[in-house]
Amino acid sequence: MVYDFTTIIDRHGKDALAVDGLGTIPGMAPDAPREGFDVIPMWVADMNFATVPTIPEAIIERAKHPLYGYFNPSDEYFDAIIRWQRDRNDVTGLTRDAIGYENGVLGGVISAVTAFAAPGDAVLLHSPTYIGFTNSLSNNGYRIVHSPLKRDAEGVWRMDFADMERRIKENNIHVAIFCSPHNPCGRVWERWEIEQAM
Ligand SMILES: Cc1ncc(COP(=O)(O)O)c(C=O)c1O
Repeated sequence: MVYDFTTIIDRHGKDALAVDGLGTIPGMAPDAPREGFDVIPMWVADMNFATVPTIPEAIIERAKHPLYGYFNPSDEYFDAIIRWQRDRNDVTGLTRDAIGYENGVLGGVISAVTAFAAPGDAVLLHSPTYIGFTNSLSNNGYRIVHSPLKRDAEGVWRMDFADMERRIKENNIHVAIFCSPHNPCGRVWERWEIEQAM
């Protein structure tokens, strides 16, 4: 399918935090631009191209039925995840009882962290850290231990493996959050870096 990544779509008045949120959340959202200047919405990791058409088509089709009560995830939901994990990640033997339902990444992160740690425990993260991780972990009672990323001689942000090792031992850490591409800084880690981190 040929896809349109270049048309600039006006999002004003369409509940777009990235565009209409400027100046509304002190300390988080940037100030609104001065009179006569456009918004460049690069402060929230939001797509500025249209969602692939099959997604609104499916949502609209379902919404035509006027009752929106409790639900169980469908067979298609589980099958799509099992197929994705098989084709993309070579995961075999995944069954539906090992799959949960989340409607965002951060709930999934907390579910995963809670499988290995309890509130009050320390969790290792790299800093600078995505604010969603910071808020979700602290709101759920976890203690964040940061291992700062370091810039190498070429200006590339790298993990500091010795620092991670030390903090993991000192704080009896058994869960780390590994973010790829890293937010913020956009690092897509190289294989050797991931292997060394593991
Ligand atoms: C690293 C990272 N994880 C998770 C999220 C949240 O993703 P979502 O809102 O799609 O669940 C973001 C959003 O910016 C993110 O940058």
